[in-house]
Amino acid sequence: MVAQVVRTAAELRAASALLLAERGGRAQGLVPTMGALHEGHARLAKTAVEQNDVVVASIFVNPLQFGDAVDLDRYPRTLEADVALLEEQGVDLVFAPSVDEVYPGGEPLVRVTAGSLGEKWEGASRPGHFDGALTVVAKLLHYGIPGAGLPPAGAFVSGGGAGLPAYRAYFGQKDAQQLALVRRMVADLNFPVDIVAVPTVRSAEGLALSSRNRFLSDEELEAALVLSRALRLLEARANAHEPLDLDSAQALVASQPLVALDYFDVVDPGTLEPLAENCRKVPFRGEGLALIAAKVGPVRLIDNAPLSS
Ligand code: PAF
Repeated sequence: MVAQVVRTAAELRAASALLLAERGGRAQGLVPTMGALHEGHARLAKTAVEQNDVVVASIFVNPLQFGDAVDLDRYPRTLEADVALLEEQGVDLVFAPSVDEVYPGGEPLVRVTAGSLGEKWEGASRPGHFDGALTVVAKLLHYGIPGAGLPPAGAFVSGGGAGLPAYRAYFGQKDAQQLALVRRMVADLNFPVDIVAVPTVRSAEGLALSSRNRFLSDEELEAALVLSRALRLLEARANAHEPLDLDSAQALVASQPLVALDYFDVVDPGTLEPLAENCRKVPFRGEGLALIAAKVGPVRLIDNAPLSS
């Protein structure tokens, strides 16, 4: 099936409303991306296609979430290949707006702030990143609301009640902090959408797929595997109800000379506060999220593992 590429919010609303009506659709899915797509995005799109009648994927490299103009310029733009990948998964509409379409008056004066949840972990290394990401996610979630326009205030019922189509948006578990923040924004600010988390896709060796992996040399790719190995170690201990012994997992990462560890901790999945006791000497019980970030050569990588015992 051929995906239709639309450039403006008005075109998107008209095209999605038409498709939904033609299909007697009850559910619309949105997959927000910045392009440079890989198998991880394909999994997001495929999940959305399986669960909805109409699926929109957005491709927009959001200047607000880059701290550095060089990083923004360096971000790969691969629209043709991206559209082909999305088409293969059965996505109906690709929304690829210009910066002027999304920010017509220049950078927005009023933004979403991620608060204290956005200042730790990734936020500590990338100040302002999550404010920029949440601001554009808020806009994208509004653009993707099913139907020809916004539903009347208060009319949305999660899961498509009151005759309105269901509306779901898909985010990767790989960006665990972004996912936690999007969930909080949607809950705290009453956004009319259900957030669906999609598990991380990995290479055969275990490396979490990322658009940044393309900047790693063969030697760095090999070195980067220590991140997922360390996470697997914690998972195995959690599954066996053993103490996580985070110190030894951190030492494993530190033993790899090409890897400079930024953080590696186990946190509460909702608040992202460290679970100090559980991580070290007592048998692990309950829910946790192991978060890791490191520089491998010139590239900053993140990964995580949900833990449950
Ligand atoms: O995860 C991403 O690709 C981006 O942060 C997102 C959610 C598309 C917002 O620009």
